[in-house]
Amino acid sequence: MTKAILINGGNSVSSRLTGVEQYIANNLTAKGIEVETIQVHQLPAEDLITANYKSEAIAAEIVKVGAADIVVFLTPIYKGSYTGILKTFIDLLPQKGLEGKQVFPVAIGGSIAHLLALEYSLKPVLSILGATNIDCPIYIVDSQVARIEGGFTLDETATARIDNVFSTVSGVKVGV
Ligand SMILES: Cc1cc2nc3c(=O)[nH]c(=O)nc-3n(C[C@H](O)[C@H](O)[C@H](O)COP(=O)(O)O)c2cc1C
Repeated sequence: MTKAILINGGNSVSSRLTGVEQYIANNLTAKGIEVETIQVHQLPAEDLITANYKSEAIAAEIVKVGAADIVVFLTPIYKGSYTGILKTFIDLLPQKGLEGKQVFPVAIGGSIAHLLALEYSLKPVLSILGATNIDCPIYIVDSQVARIEGGFTLDETATARIDNVFSTVSGVKVGV
């Protein structure tokens, strides 16, 4: 079974980024893909900020990344870039930890001013980690995601963009 890991670099599960994360998780699950999520801000902060490679809690999450075929990096845009929260986790991934994986960068920003932020900030870092199959980044503006009773809803432009980018993935592994 194809496995996906969603790595959420937001600062809170109440962020509208969670709405995007849940939409992507549902999209992948509907294709028969096994989905897991890492909320970086819920991992031990001291281990993250001191780059503690010996942290058992973080090592357990890194094993999940290693087992995944698809890795989705989700981040809010902070100061024109992906978050430092996400970077603390990326820094603990193995040197070529994204080799052979299909990688999807996804951001939510307060405006379109930083539409290219993932191109110039996150994608080069993912390449250094061995990713050669990086999909075109998805950039959602936070006004496209609304908080509703019990969750979130995304507008049609946002869902169409996500559906289109993830249309290339399938629950069936090629050659298996
Ligand atoms: C510290 C901080 C810096 C931010 N910097 C930017 C920025 O440079 N560009 C941008 O488009 N949005 C920026 N934003 C807006 C966030 O991307 C936005 O809060 C996020 O998309 C989700 O909002 P929510 O957590 O309120 O749902 C910033 C927000 C914070 C808290």
